[in-house]
Amino acid sequence: MQDDTGAVENRIISDIAAAATLSALEDVRVAALGKKGEVSALLKTLGGMDAEERQRLGPLFNQLKIRITEALQSRRDSLEAEELTRRLASETLDMTLPVDTDPQFEGRIHPVSQTMEELAVIFASMGFDVAEGPDIESGFYNFTALNIPDAHPARQMHDTFYLTAEEEGEALLLRTHTSPVQVRTMEAGARADGEEDGPPFRFIAPGRTYRCDSDQTHTPMFHQIEGLVIDKTTHMGHLKHTLEAFLTAFFEVDNVAIRFRPSYFPFTEPSMEVDIRCHRDGGKLIVGAGDDWMEIGGSGMVNPHVLRHAGIDADVYQGFAFGMGIDRLAMLKYGMPDLRAFFSADLRWLKHYGFLPIDVPGLAGGLSNKTLAVK
Ligand code: DAH
Repeated sequence: MQDDTGAVENRIISDIAAAATLSALEDVRVAALGKKGEVSALLKTLGGMDAEERQRLGPLFNQLKIRITEALQSRRDSLEAEELTRRLASETLDMTLPVDTDPQFEGRIHPVSQTMEELAVIFASMGFDVAEGPDIESGFYNFTALNIPDAHPARQMHDTFYLTAEEEGEALLLRTHTSPVQVRTMEAGARADGEEDGPPFRFIAPGRTYRCDSDQTHTPMFHQIEGLVIDKTTHMGHLKHTLEAFLTAFFEVDNVAIRFRPSYFPFTEPSMEVDIRCHRDGGKLIVGAGDDWMEIGGSGMVNPHVLRHAGIDADVYQGFAFGMGIDRLAMLKYGMPDLRAFFSADLRWLKHYGFLPIDVPGLAGGLSNKTLAVK
């Protein structure tokens, strides 16, 4: 019978052919080639044979094993192919069906995220890059480089959150404004036209800011947008035009009027607060026209000390900076009454004031061509 590998082979091969599933095929493999399998048992008998018999039967048994292994492999390939075809046929997806979402679970984009996108789109159309800086700052970038030295009263005014961690002997802090990104970005030499290091610069820096302050219009964490333009001949006319163009596009009105009020910031000279013309209509604030003014941010011509701290030649370059509260801008545009609700993670609030992903900010409100260029 040991000679009769042909019969064994035929039987096993027909078992292989008859295996209708991968697991049935695996059973056949184990019965033939597994530890206690029929073919394995045959191979084991070689050890007890004399040399002559082993020489005769060894190649026979090995050939048997090889052919069975090949037959198993080819059956496995075709079963897998069949399985794939079956799955492809049964698991079709109709991409044209409406999306199966329960509106209750639909996510919303937070008004602050939406507003940040809007700011980026509007300023990008005026040629501004978007710069970022760290939330955890050093005293140097948050104050000193912005011309606010150690004993300066402005340091107290900022209600700073200090960390216990230090860097170079000075406590780290949560940045109290986005202005440190001015210095960091100038230092890094990101140039508006991307060609070489150094000025001109034209960028905005939106982000989170922190102050130890909390009431209806202040939260310990809030958002600001910083703007900076540095070139050889940049002047206050450019600043006014930029702010007007931005506010017109942002509030989607034909015209906004702004006014500058003299103010003081250590990092600008001269410094101005920016007011936007508005009026109240039954408790609702209408921006753009009217007989009232509303403060929306600070601005000024960058103080030469700040340029020098960032390694810029202040005898050659000059420019303007501005800073505005993003949450305030969102409240004015979308009419939320209380800032604290922005960060209380109330789903009902988010459903009401949030945006759907398809509400992609564009320039529908319109930056007209004439407002685009800041030369
Ligand atoms: N950093 C100021 C603040 O948080 C806002 C500000 C004022 C930024 C004037 C500026 C600026 O860039 O020029 O109160």
